[in-house]
Amino acid sequence: MSEPVQTPQTKFTPRIFSGIQPSGGLTLGNYLGALKRFVEKQDEGIETIYCMVDLHAITVWQDPEKLRQQTREGAAAFIAAGIDPARSILFNQSQVSAHAELGWIFNCVARMGWMGRMTQWKDKAGKNAEAASLGLFAYPSLMAADILAYQATMVPVGEDQKQHLELTRDIAIKFNNDFKVDFFPVVDPIIEGAATRVMSLRDGTKKMSKSDPSDQSRINLTDDSDMIAAKIRKAKTDPEPLPETVDGLKDRPEAKNLVNIYAALSGQSVDQVVAEYAGAQFGSFKPKLAELAVAKLSPITTEMNRLMQDPAEIDRILGQGADRAEAIARPIVDKVYDIVGMIRSRGR
Ligand code: AMP
Ligand code: TRP
Repeated sequence: MSEPVQTPQTKFTPRIFSGIQPSGGLTLGNYLGALKRFVEKQDEGIETIYCMVDLHAITVWQDPEKLRQQTREGAAAFIAAGIDPARSILFNQSQVSAHAELGWIFNCVARMGWMGRMTQWKDKAGKNAEAASLGLFAYPSLMAADILAYQATMVPVGEDQKQHLELTRDIAIKFNNDFKVDFFPVVDPIIEGAATRVMSLRDGTKKMSKSDPSDQSRINLTDDSDMIAAKIRKAKTDPEPLPETVDGLKDRPEAKNLVNIYAALSGQSVDQVVAEYAGAQFGSFKPKLAELAVAKLSPITTEMNRLMQDPAEIDRILGQGADRAEAIARPIVDKVYDIVGMIRSRGR
């Protein structure tokens, strides 16, 4: 067991929780911003809980068969990237009802105004918010429940999730104040490394996303080596050579993105990459980047494909993970019902 965290919340054991939506195939953004770092945390020996958040995915329409397939594929990607289901807890959200239960209670703690300020809500609902699902609006409160059902203290995510984690903190603080308890930890977001925001290969001002209509905008973890190389070759750039200093990447979003990806994949700092390629043309940098991306990603793709041959085994792993997750979350959520004032008399 690890030592309690040395923050104001000394009573909480360090525990990491994070989730990924099975709403499409995973991208290089998910790999560098999330998966790769999930593995590092596991290997640091902290207790790690990772979840395919299928209840989040259905806040927008999902074809049921595809959703199941993508959930298995996501789980396969976790394992292929280095998550060991014996050391980390790996499961899908809907198998542990504590998430939905605590999500409801948090719907009654969080305020409409808080949700309305979420930029992801505004982006996803677009101009026609009236037609968006109620679940899409309430999504951040379910996310808070995911984390707090385990009293998790640390949450590794990409930059785009920062605002949702601030809301998770607000919900924890309001719950603790409303009920005069010190029950939920105030979580620390872990947003670190060179690739906390991997951008589209077609537009350096937009996030690389599994939901972008253009497949050329992203590298999928299922892409083969030729596709990866072709997408990098065609990636948008400007006509200038690579700069001599990191400062020179300012106002060059596409160049900056490719350098960041190179740094994150190679484990070097952005400074080191800039120093190595100072003055190089993209014509010579891109093939190096493609070579590096293929070297890092293709073993993962191969292993994912192998694991996907046995969906029953993936389901078994998710089921066992769910049992372990349930064992942690159940007593926590039972205690929440008690704090809130619900009668719990079954089986007495
Ligand atoms: P999602 O695919 O939206 O469920 O995101 C799962 C995780 O991947 C979250 O921690 C995100 O912050 C992270 N992520 C998604 N897209 C990117 C990106 N383009 N760059 C960095 N991290 C990302
Ligand atoms: N909202 C996150 C995303 O879209 C996914 C997510 C759901 C999550 N629950 C979480 C991430 C809990 C971290 C912790 O990327």
